[in-house]
Amino acid sequence: MVKTTKFGTYRQFILESEELRVSVMELGATVTGVDYRGKRVGLGYESAEDYLTHDAYLGAIVGRFANRIGGGSFPLNGRRVELPRNEGANTLHGGPDSWDRRVWQGHIEGESVLFTLVSPAGDNGFPGRLTAAVRYTVTGGALRIDFEGDADADTVFAPTSHMYFNLRGTGSVLDTHMRIPARGVLEVDEALIPTGRVLPAEGAFDFSGLRPVGQNYDHAFVLDGSRACEAVCGGVRLTLDTDFPALQFYTGAFLGEPFGENGGFAVEPEFYPDAPNHPDFPSALLRAGEHFRRYAVYSFSDAE
Ligand code: BGC
Repeated sequence: MVKTTKFGTYRQFILESEELRVSVMELGATVTGVDYRGKRVGLGYESAEDYLTHDAYLGAIVGRFANRIGGGSFPLNGRRVELPRNEGANTLHGGPDSWDRRVWQGHIEGESVLFTLVSPAGDNGFPGRLTAAVRYTVTGGALRIDFEGDADADTVFAPTSHMYFNLRGTGSVLDTHMRIPARGVLEVDEALIPTGRVLPAEGAFDFSGLRPVGQNYDHAFVLDGSRACEAVCGGVRLTLDTDFPALQFYTGAFLGEPFGENGGFAVEPEFYPDAPNHPDFPSALLRAGEHFRRYAVYSFSDAE
């Protein structure tokens, strides 16, 4: 069932099944809360204002390019695209005028909510007029997100959902048990820009079996199939399935009160960071007339 409400001045939609309640507002097409069997496991701020004063991208759809583009520029069709930089020399999460501050058009379509955003040519430096569509659907214990996009000129497109989770509901997430079936982890420099090397997921990066997180992460794992991760804590299991090629696992955010540091972890289905500067990474190129389509499914269940 889908209902319409308000969150501050913004329209908000509530998607509900017996197990799951997901609220999504038109600002940033942001998930403002996920409750599994009455427990808040997907984090959200108290007020709409909080979303405008923090920069954790909490629950938002990030675009046009999630994660970093090194040097804030990339080659496209024989010329260089220059982007505004918002993290030192680099462009993070699409740049300074980020999509989490945009008001999307939302409407109910059956059991889903469909959000669309028209990003004009040159938006934050990105070529082409891009129409992005993000569909949220709740079925049983699962929240499915479908990402789509169409552009009228060649461009890059690499959105993500930036939800943070805390499966116990409160406290640190460092004792959450995590499994990430990965083929490797991207080596990065001190600014978190990939060097191009894929390292084996060993030692601190070995999440081949469920084990406590234990320390902070802000790394891109190269996925090995559609199961991106499994997380267990507080009697709740979250699995994430996706056809994006990588997963950014991020624990270090200071989300503000009442979450504090390590109060949530983000598991972001993504293209590889800086993909437009690495011809050997899976391509984030979206050609004019081509249709972009990717999905992510977050499934919640009881864990012993
Ligand atoms: C990035 C972090 C960044 C954060 C911003 C994450 O996706 O990996 O490096 O600080 O987003 O909230």
